This record gives sequence, C-alpha cells and structure tokens, in this order.
Amino acid sequence: MSWQSLRPEWGLVLGSGLGSFVERMEIIAAVPYAKIPGLPQSSVAGHAGRFVFGKIGGATVLAAQGRVHLYEGKTAAEITAGVRWMHAQGVRKLVLTNAAGTCNPAFHPGSWMMLNDHLNLTHTTPLLGGPNFFDMSEVYSKALRAMVSDVAKELGTTLHEGVYAGLLGPQYETPAEVRMLRTLGADAVGMSTVLEAIQARALKMEVAGFSCLTNWAAGLHPGTLGHEEVLETGRNAAAQLADVLERALSL
Ligand code: HPA
Repeated sequence: MSWQSLRPEWGLVLGSGLGSFVERMEIIAAVPYAKIPGLPQSSVAGHAGRFVFGKIGGATVLAAQGRVHLYEGKTAAEITAGVRWMHAQGVRKLVLTNAAGTCNPAFHPGSWMMLNDHLNLTHTTPLLGGPNFFDMSEVYSKALRAMVSDVAKELGTTLHEGVYAGLLGPQYETPAEVRMLRTLGADAVGMSTVLEAIQARALKMEVAGFSCLTNWAAGLHPGTLGHEEVLETGRNAAAQLADVLERALSL
C-alpha cells in the first residue's frame, strides 16, 4: 500500500535523541523532508529529517523523525509546516516530544514530564495572519493526559506533569533566566514544541506533549550543559516513554 492512502490518525514528533522510537515501529514507508515541497531541513545533529509511516501498538502512526527549530533561523510558519503536512495526511492526534532541562527540583533528569500547559516565550507564533484570538485554554488534551497517565501508572513509569517553557535558544539559559522561569511557573525549559502545539490546535488536532528531562536547567546544579549529555540522556530514557505510548496506542 502506498503511504498516500494510509491516513494515519496518530502523529508523533520525535525530539533530540528520541528518534529511536521509530525502531519500535513496523515501518511501512519513509519520506525524507527533502522530498516534500515547502518543508525546511534540519541542520542539528541528532535530527534525522524524515517522516516515517508505520504501525505500533496496533495503530498506524506518522512519525516525524527530527524537527526544525526557530533558532536555525527559520520562521514560525516554516517550522510548523511539518505539522500542517501531518494534518493533511490525516493526523488528528499529535504527540509532541522534546528534550528539556528541568527547573523543578522534584523532577529529576532521566525522567519524563507530560505537559499540562506551556509558556510560549519565543515572541512569535505560526498564527500570524490568522486565525486571530484563538482559544488556548486547553492546548494539551485533558482526555489524552488522563489516558496516558493511567497507562504510566499501570506500567510503573514515573511521569511528572507540568508546565513547559519554550524559548528561542539556541544558547542554553543563564541561571538568572532559569530563576525567572521558575517564578513564572515553568517546570521544564526547551527550544521547541510550543509553536507546533499552537499550530496543531488551530487545526483542531488533539495534542499531547512530553519532555524528556535530560539535565538540570542552568544553576540548579553545579557544572555546565552540553548537547551530548542531552542526547545521551534522551537515548537512555526513550524506551520508557516508548513503552507507555506503545501501550496507549493499543487501547
Ligand atoms: N534548556 C533549553 N533547552 C534544552 C535544555 C535546557 O536546559 N536541555 C535540553 N534542551
């Protein structure tokens, strides 16, 4: 069967170090971003840049392996082109994953946080030009959160819930910025996800978001931050969320 006729209901955006989730899938087809007109290319190590259609947990899913970020010099409209493309392929439930620093002392690196809300601190949005005044009171679906939380409990997997702050990057935060984010109510900080979530909601998709807490945000612990540490922790924790999602998709 060609991928054009698959119409997957579930979409999955895989962040830094989390691309291995695709190894769990029975792959039907892979389409490099380069083959799709209007889709920007990622230039970041650990971001492969292709869509994979496949089966997991009994569901047909469309996974985006690697994403493009604002800090690569792209616009909000450009970096959300993949979400619009996934919607056009039939996706109505979108799972966004990312690597993030934890700014909540109770949420340790190596664990996962399910997003219950976000702070869009990128100062831009994919909705420039409309739709205007779009309702954002439940970006991350309560129903999906309840379902995934039940599955995590059943599997004995720690799954925190909290607020993700999405910043422009590409530099990591200063300790003063992390203190500011904590004051604002953030539990985790990263450089993606919020614009994709906004775009997906504007297309009436149901959204779930997960942060792999790869490191303490700056200032919470002694030492400095590196992209390698982030990728390594992401790779190690990927299996935990994959187990939960695989089970959730089989329900
Ligand atoms: N800050 C921002 N983005 C990140 C971090 C962080 O500490 N870790 C992984 N992505």
